[in-house]
Amino acid sequence: MLNKIFDPEGAQAEARFEALQARGAAFLGTEFAIMGGAMSWVSERHLVSAISNAGGFGVIACGAMTPALLEAEIAATQALTDKPFGVNLITMHPQLDDLVQVCLRAKVGHVVLAGGIPPGPALRAVKDGGAKLVAFAPALVLAKRFIKSGVDALVIEGSEAGGHIGPVSLTVLAQEILPHIREVPVFVAGGLGRGEAILGYLEMGAAGAQLGTRFAASVESIAHPNFKQAFLRANARDAIPSIQLDERFPVIPVRGLVNDGTKRFLLHQAETLAKFQAGELDKTAAQLAIEHFWAGALRRAVVEGDVESGSVMAGQSVGMVTSIQPVAEILHELKAQAIAALTARAGPIGPNLAPHAERS
Ligand SMILES: Cc1cc2nc3c(=O)[nH]c(=O)nc-3n(C[C@H](O)[C@H](O)[C@H](O)COP(=O)(O)O)c2cc1C
Repeated sequence: MLNKIFDPEGAQAEARFEALQARGAAFLGTEFAIMGGAMSWVSERHLVSAISNAGGFGVIACGAMTPALLEAEIAATQALTDKPFGVNLITMHPQLDDLVQVCLRAKVGHVVLAGGIPPGPALRAVKDGGAKLVAFAPALVLAKRFIKSGVDALVIEGSEAGGHIGPVSLTVLAQEILPHIREVPVFVAGGLGRGEAILGYLEMGAAGAQLGTRFAASVESIAHPNFKQAFLRANARDAIPSIQLDERFPVIPVRGLVNDGTKRFLLHQAETLAKFQAGELDKTAAQLAIEHFWAGALRRAVVEGDVESGSVMAGQSVGMVTSIQPVAEILHELKAQAIAALTARAGPIGPNLAPHAERS
């Protein structure tokens, strides 16, 4: 009310922002239409409950957890928050169906299936169990297919993101997908660090956003202090995708900070290639040797703080991590930036005109 009297433009901007994020917030059951992207080793009970308690939507990263471990993690998270949160399951997990049942038994409201096309049985089990299913759509044709098969919401994650990435940037994916999908809410992810950018995608039709990197560096994140300090030091250009040396030996693209490990990975590929060419390793063994290089490396960086040889997965948004902030502060800052951008437009000279006016 005070806002309305003293700051009508601010109040209008806030109302506009709330309207833009209403669909996403309603789908998640939250105050902010912002998901904390699942991050293996990082998105556990503390960070997930902190995000949900602050009005966002925390998502547990199941990763390689067994059903028993996941069950314990969900219960521990429920002990820390009574707000909604989700669970991210990787489709390649050999016990995917059991993990789905764990989520359903624990009354988890939203299951996110990551790492490929959601398999039919898991998809049906989630739906039949009464939970909402969220899937990653890497292209418009797949987005449409997923919706037909009953997916309740989509995440489109651009190559700017931290962790495993696809080849297309969010700028392009958003243009390809957002104008054409109205049936389900679509959340945008990858490289997002400020509210103005989130606002831009909401205006293009996104229902909300998913952020990882900024939350990994939050106060509540259990990541090792070395991991958070590496985020503080890094610029966008330090977060690069893993490099593949030879097309015969594919490397899964993962975006992370350049370090001794990423340099040694190139050397390791070159040495493995030489052994393959010399007949010391067959193709399968060589491929395995390359894939094995990063085994346990994310845990080493996140949990043990070995940010030199470990895998310091981070999005290009890492350049926008300028301090270690509480999750609630991050969420409110993003909202304030979006509202400030909307308010600025309502002024006598729009922000697009201002620079020209200054120059003349
Ligand atoms: C350290 C780290 C680990 C991640 N692990 C996972 C994961 O296990 N599963 C998943 O679906 N996405 C994972 N991601 C991606 C995030 O969920 C999120 O989509 C991404 O971080 C968004 O981009 P941003 O980091 O620029 O905000 C990870 C990202 C980071 C930075």
